[in-house]
Amino acid sequence: MHSILWLVVLINACDVFLTDKTYAARLQEKYVWKQIAFAWPSDGEEQNAIATGRYIPENNAPLSMDLWGDKVFITIPRWKSGVAASLAYIQLPDDSRSPILHPYPNWESHDMERNFPEVPQVQKRAANFKCSQLGNFLSDGPEPKTVELSTNIVSPYRAKADECDRLWVLDWGRERLLEKTRRQVTLPTIILFDLNTDKVLHRYTFPQDQVLKTSEFVNFAVDISDRECGNAFIYVADVVGYGMLVYSLNEDRSWRIKHNYFHFDPLEGNFFIGGINFQVPDGIFGLAVGNQKPDKSKNVYFHALSSTKEFVVSNKVLQNETRALDKDSYYDFKMLGDRGFNGQSNVQIFDKNTEIIFYSQVNKDAVGCWNSRKPYTPDTQGLVDSDSVTLVFVNEFFVDKGDNLWVLSNKLPQVLFTSGLNASEDNFRILGGRISELIIGTPCDFVDDSFYLQYPDL
Ligand SMILES: *[C@@H]1O[C@H](CO)[C@@H](O)[C@H](O)[C@H]1NC(C)=O
Ligand SMILES: *[C@@H]1O[C@H](CO)[C@@H](O)[C@H](O)[C@H]1NC(C)=O
Repeated sequence: MHSILWLVVLINACDVFLTDKTYAARLQEKYVWKQIAFAWPSDGEEQNAIATGRYIPENNAPLSMDLWGDKVFITIPRWKSGVAASLAYIQLPDDSRSPILHPYPNWESHDMERNFPEVPQVQKRAANFKCSQLGNFLSDGPEPKTVELSTNIVSPYRAKADECDRLWVLDWGRERLLEKTRRQVTLPTIILFDLNTDKVLHRYTFPQDQVLKTSEFVNFAVDISDRECGNAFIYVADVVGYGMLVYSLNEDRSWRIKHNYFHFDPLEGNFFIGGINFQVPDGIFGLAVGNQKPDKSKNVYFHALSSTKEFVVSNKVLQNETRALDKDSYYDFKMLGDRGFNGQSNVQIFDKNTEIIFYSQVNKDAVGCWNSRKPYTPDTQGLVDSDSVTLVFVNEFFVDKGDNLWVLSNKLPQVLFTSGLNASEDNFRILGGRISELIIGTPCDFVDDSFYLQYPDL
């Protein structure tokens, strides 16, 4: 009797604590970097790269990550000069506090001077290229030699591993975006790697007419149906082109979708992050693909960064170009609801096990959650963790097989809007926590099943 009473009191006490923003479990720092360091072939090469400006350590800021096998892939966009390698990985296990990054798939793929020389060398390269094409053409034997696709990478914002052991790299193709010498090296390109061989399976370049002057392909989601690896689509968020691009691997083709819901909310474009106040007109950014429903369709959730609203559309609509470009498809896109005051978010992820969406809360230095079986209202949004030191600008998530949520934060506004980061401080972090513990006490937890709705009816 006595102990039951005590238990009740304890539960009530917990309630009080939780509403007072004490978290049942916190995200734990796994890796922390002041500056990114790379595994150079030798100290001499690193010194040489620094001397020539190929490597300017403070200009290397990680944006995104994904896990496959014993590798954590990290992208390091070429916003400024001196990015040593724009795609790299941490070799697991790594118990150090600040792991060294290995270029992926190798150093040569990131050697901009060699791979994409600036004029006037361009003409010389073009001549060489003709010769080697002729070489292929004249190759002997009845079987044509398989041409190895180039592994060269310019500057991906994100890279994502899929369930078919492939890595999708969305190369934005620009370098030195924040400098006067900015250069469009290639059109945006999808580079698909076989992770077992580190060879390129396929390259696809988006046609010029699908890339606007204002375009910026900041994020994408991969959607594979029934583990049919060929039946893969990716959905690309064009943040200030206010569009979504759909690429079909089967058809090796892409199309560009417009919708008013891809735009920003003019009242929600004001940000205070890491002591920096700025305004951006950022449209569609966060993407999350739900589980397959009995009719084989999936919900594709999306939101603009400068907005607090969430939207959803069926993947069947996105995948059907005729439908997606038909003006009646306006009604296929639905508003789910609103996260409420200060609820702006960039990235989000759908956890297949719990059907919870985790999303960044950039103005709150926080990670939010929403249980996709509940209605979407400010009251059903949970705050998983917040921290004004470790969670300044969350910029990527992944969920591992052990049911842990991983979070990357990177103080990005300081990189983009100031002279740069302070190399004496911890700037980039990867944190992690067990999902079942992180959601305790939040509206995302599974406490009252009767409250749950079915999937929104699309
Ligand atoms: C694609 O959409 C069009 C127009 O709504 C429809 O007629 C057609 O049947 C759809 N195709 C598929 C494969 O669902
Ligand atoms: C950089 O960070 C260190 C440690 O926090 C601090 O002492 C120093 O003043 C900072 N420098 C600048 C320029 O803000």
